[in-house]
Amino acid sequence: MSEQRVVMCEGRLTDELRNEVKDRAPEQVYILVDSNTKKLCLPLLEKDEFFSKVKTIEIKPNDDHKTLEALASVWTFLSQNKATRKSMLINLGGGMVTDLGGFAASTFKRGMDYVNVPTTLLGAVDAAVGGKTGINFCGLKNEIGVINSSQSVLIDVNTFRTLDDKNFRSGFAEMIKHGLISDEKHWNDMLAFDLDHIDYSQLSTLLRDSIAVKEKIVAIDPYEKNIRKALNFGHTIGHAFESYAMESGSPILHGYAVAYGMIPELYLSHKFCGFPKELMREAVHLIKDNYGAMNVGCKVYDHLYELMTHDKKNVGDGRILFTLLGEKGIGDIKINQDVEKKAILEAIDYYRDVVGL
Ligand SMILES: NC(=O)c1ccc[n+]([C@@H]2O[C@H](COP(=O)([O-])OP(=O)(O)OC[C@H]3O[C@@H](n4cnc5c(N)ncnc54)[C@H](O)[C@@H]3O)[C@@H](O)[C@H]2O)c1
Ligand SMILES: [Zn+2]
Repeated sequence: MSEQRVVMCEGRLTDELRNEVKDRAPEQVYILVDSNTKKLCLPLLEKDEFFSKVKTIEIKPNDDHKTLEALASVWTFLSQNKATRKSMLINLGGGMVTDLGGFAASTFKRGMDYVNVPTTLLGAVDAAVGGKTGINFCGLKNEIGVINSSQSVLIDVNTFRTLDDKNFRSGFAEMIKHGLISDEKHWNDMLAFDLDHIDYSQLSTLLRDSIAVKEKIVAIDPYEKNIRKALNFGHTIGHAFESYAMESGSPILHGYAVAYGMIPELYLSHKFCGFPKELMREAVHLIKDNYGAMNVGCKVYDHLYELMTHDKKNVGDGRILFTLLGEKGIGDIKINQDVEKKAILEAIDYYRDVVGL
């Protein structure tokens, strides 16, 4: 996979983007937005005369529009507007736009350059980095896609100022995950961040370090054969919570599901891999204080387990495999941990207990 440059560029976004265009000298440039980023973020780029003249492609917002139809509309626009193999696509949006736009650019004329400008915290810390692109298909998430990195990821934390609190916290949950799988210094920096009074300059530094955690892992294992599974921490039970919330008609944002999923997975880490109790408590409190709780009744345990067995990512020979943390504490990653049903349900008991259900 080609190398990806990640640049934090507070106040210099258009300059950095302009340099990117100059260096790559594309034959044409296009900007992909959704209807929200068109309104809220595109004006930041259009202050620059060059970008004010660039053709814009607009798609509908949110994950339910990460579809083949929306993808086809981007291909159609590129085709009708004479895009070539040497054109460049700028994806200006959250994970939905960078996933779909990345896939569109990777496949149009067998691949053209693209640059991600993530405008959500989740997009910046996760979706825009690491090369996974794609769309949902046949009711399945990210069913079709390729791994192909954007040339660059340009991040201006000022674009997050218009994000609502829930979307901000959703992205921050992935940063908590990165904190737990990194090192003590970074973890302590995470604990010191005040989500109720956001300091954007502190956020920029913290985000840069958090992205570096993912970059380091992806560089070793881009195709998720081994250590990239570390990034699944909190996601095995988290995905089951996410699907259950969706089925019961009260969907929750992905980051919230991961935050809740980390609680039982911290418990399993302590129980099976000796992750220190104090650290487990510290992380659980951080999550509880900032994310509240999702209601999980004891009648749905079997169904949650069933959902985990359907998640291809976790299952090996009928067993559910977890990424857990070990006795050395923060950053002691243990992949492919086989945990039996009884212990998983006990971990959900712990979740309910600790969040006060
Ligand atoms: N490729 C990967 O590795 C990877 C990793 C994690 C998530 N994802 C994907 O990312 C998507 C979720 O990302 P997301 O949470 O960024 O979702 P999103 O792109 O749907 O953005 C969430 C909402 O925020 C709006 N928005 C975007 N920028 C804004 C801004 N600056 N101010 C106000 N509103 C803004 C969007 O229009 C949307 O309504 C999912 O499709 C998921 O599958 C991909
Ligand atoms: Zn995630």
